[in-house]
This record gives sequence, structure tokens and C-alpha cells, in this order.
Amino acid sequence: MTATEHTRLVGTVTNERNQPMLGGLFTPLATESEDIELAVTGNLPAGLNGMYIRNGPNPMFEPRGGYHMFDGDAMLHRVLMSEGIATYRSKWVRTAALQAEIAVGRSLYGGMGELHLPSRKEVGNAGPIKNPANTNIVNHAGRFLALYEAAPATEVTADLSTIGLQTFGGAITGPFTAHPKVDPRTGELHAFSYLSEPPYLQYHLIDAAGEFVRTVDIELAEAVVMHDFVVTEDYVVFVDSPLLMDLESALNGGSMFRWEPSHGTRIGVLAHGETQTRWFQTEDAYVNHFWNGWVKDGVLTFSGSVLTSEAYSTSEASAMNTEGAQADPGLPTRFTVNLSSGAVVQERLDELGGDVPRINEAYLGVENRYRYMVAFSGVPDVIGHFDTVVSYDDLTGDRATWFAGNGMVVGEAVFVADPSGVAENDGWLLAMVTPRSAAADSSTSVAAATDLVVIDARDVAAGPVARVHLPDRLPFGFHGNYFAAAGEKPRA
Ligand SMILES: [Fe+2]
Repeated sequence: MTATEHTRLVGTVTNERNQPMLGGLFTPLATESEDIELAVTGNLPAGLNGMYIRNGPNPMFEPRGGYHMFDGDAMLHRVLMSEGIATYRSKWVRTAALQAEIAVGRSLYGGMGELHLPSRKEVGNAGPIKNPANTNIVNHAGRFLALYEAAPATEVTADLSTIGLQTFGGAITGPFTAHPKVDPRTGELHAFSYLSEPPYLQYHLIDAAGEFVRTVDIELAEAVVMHDFVVTEDYVVFVDSPLLMDLESALNGGSMFRWEPSHGTRIGVLAHGETQTRWFQTEDAYVNHFWNGWVKDGVLTFSGSVLTSEAYSTSEASAMNTEGAQADPGLPTRFTVNLSSGAVVQERLDELGGDVPRINEAYLGVENRYRYMVAFSGVPDVIGHFDTVVSYDDLTGDRATWFAGNGMVVGEAVFVADPSGVAENDGWLLAMVTPRSAAADSSTSVAAATDLVVIDARDVAAGPVARVHLPDRLPFGFHGNYFAAAGEKPRA
């Protein structure tokens, strides 16, 4: 535990340059919360016995230049649920970079849109590029890992205290994906790194006990951005797409991301235990997040939310920083790859733009029936400001939606299996719902703060069966996960 762990931290962001990603729902909280009992409307299902933790950017200090939401210091929000009672705590992740800034009381790093590389004298071992640990939180082999794809994993405790970098015995000291996958059958953790230098891509395997097994180098033609991947029973699958990582541009004030059609799009299939990746050409597509994938009768099937342009520009002047532009999150798409003939088909599954797909993770790697995401019911405006929870039944083709209300933003809907359930969709979706504007709430009976909503996954259209009322209006965040209490094993 670090010296600042017990220090009451206070954020001092004023957004003096009026940057869009520091205002509105991106406005960071200035303080942490400590075990607050929460009011609940409706009834928390008895099967929810565990905790939901959400990660997201919450910068502590006024940025020294252009700010992008990918830059902000991680704040973890934890809702602990047991016997119908919910409590809340939130904590910044005490990364080495944040510790260096806390020591001097101001920001030392530039953001992605305006890189400034601090000296070793300024930040010690924290490195020249900030690892904010702000994107996801997962648990494997008893470790909670706060993840940021351009840097190593940061280990935290169930109480949200920071332990420090987790490099798996020194084996993975560079980037580590924010979307590793636990194989529910073996307990192994599959992960990857995309890199700014050759081989540009590495696959990593960690065993069920949390021990590093191996890294496989996968050579790409140039540095790309790769946020997520697919794990099946027998393969890992990568999509090498035209979204390039351009560090030189970023160092010169441009965007770190560039869409380059000449790069093409290939699907890479690597069998477990092998070192050679097979590649299959397809039409240009960048898949931000995947639902799931499996192989059946020699055909690999996977699906995700597909973008076909540069939607994640980090340039401060880019459309992404302007409300009303480039907020399209992508479209649900299914890929099938005939592993014998090499034929690849992309099939649009819905015209509803959405992202952060989720499934019942007991089905990871094998054929599953139900998919969940969050979407824009109308025209996308601010990136990630979804307002609708969606469920799909791929057997019947049915789609169900729940609209969170005018002026409301709904975050990733995480599927939690009912421990006493049987069917794939027996469970709940947990999602944070937050009003875009605190001011707008004076005219309605809606609370100005965030609710964690609990929706029966079998009947999404019916809306929440319970709402847990948080004390704060949480800023926009990225990913969350639910972790069952010890002894409350999720069914397989
Ligand atoms: Fe993600």
C-alpha cells in the first residue's frame, strides 16, 4: 500500500480551456466516496451477491494541454450488493504517473492530442507516457486488473486500493489489452498487445493460476490500433484493420489514429498452442468490440460493432471533440470465415448504431444465442452517450430495447448470470444511467445523480426491476464488470 492510499485526494480540474471532453457528462468528480449505503427503488434480486465495478477517466489535475477522454486518471466505482443492500465506494487508481503528479500538485503529462513527454527527473519510473489504467477492470486468478491498452496492467484490490503494475513476473512489461478474455472452460487468460514497433502484435497466454505461459509474436505490416479480439475454444482471432496508430502524427499535434484504406483488412486465426497465424482478407472494417466467436463445421463465426472510418481521432481539432460529429459507434456485424476455402462474409445484423457488446460469458468461445449492447435511439451526437439498452435473440431474430429516457445516458450493460438460472439468458443486465445535465433535472422528478439499473435480461423492454441510487453524477466511463462474492460461483 502506498503512502497516499490514506490521503484524501481532491481533484482540481476547472476546465479553464473549456474542452468538450472535460465538460458535460465528461466533467470529473473532485472527490472519492467511502462505503455509502445506497437507496434502492424496486427489489435487488437475491442472486446479485457480489460487486459491480466500473472504470473510467476522471482526471485529478487540470490538463496541461489538449485533453482526450482516453487520457484521464482512472477512477473505480464499486457497488457492493448483498441481500438486497447496496453500498458504494469510489477511488482513484494510484498509478505511478498520478503519484508523480500528486507529489507536485499539478499535471505533468500531456494528453494524446498534445503529447508532452516529462523527464525522468519529473516523473521517476512512471515513464514518459501516462498509464492512467482507465479502461476496464477484470479479475483473473484472484487479481483485479485495471487496464489501459497502451501500458501494462495495474493490479488493485477488491477494496479498490492500488497494488501496482502486474507484469506477470516481468514477462509483459509493455502494452496489455484492456479486453483480455478468461476461457470459462480452462480458466486461462488470453491477452494481446498491439505495439508501435515490429512485430506490432503479440498474443499472450496466462494460465489459470495467473502464471505467464507464453507470448507469440505476430508480424503485421505496420502499426495498427486493435482494441479487442476474439477467443474461441480452439483459436484466438484478430482483425488487422486500416485504423493505424500514428505516433509521429501525435507528436506533431495531429491525431494518433489514422484510417488508411491501402492497409486493407485481414482476419488472423491462431490456433491455441500454435505460433503461425492464418490470414483471411475481407472488406475494410474496424471492430471496436466483439460479442463472441466460435467454430462450427469448419466455419468461424464472430460478431461485433463495426466502424469503417477513423472515429477515434485524438486530434483536439478533430470532429470527435465536437458535439454532433463522428459519434457513430458502429454497426452490429457478423463475420463468417470458411477455414477451408478462405471465403469471408460480412453480414450487417442491425442498422441500429451501438457498441460495448456483451454476452453471458459462460458461453465465451462457443455458439451462443443472446447478445446485448447499448445504442443511440436517435441520431448519435456525443460519442458514447448511448440512451438505449438492446438485447438480441439470434435464434428467433427478435430484438428488444429499453430507452433510458430523454436526456439520460446509459453505459455498458453487463450481463450477470443468475446463479440459480438454467437458460443462457437467465440473469440481469447492470448499467449506469446518468442524466446528461444536472441542471435539467430541476424540472423533473429525476434525480440528478447516477442510477445503477438492474434489468431482467429475459425482458429488456420491461425496463429496470431495480434502481440503485448513487450519491454522485458519475462522469462518462468505459467498461465495468460484475464479480460474484466468494462462494457464489457463476454457473458454467
Ligand atoms: Fe473497450
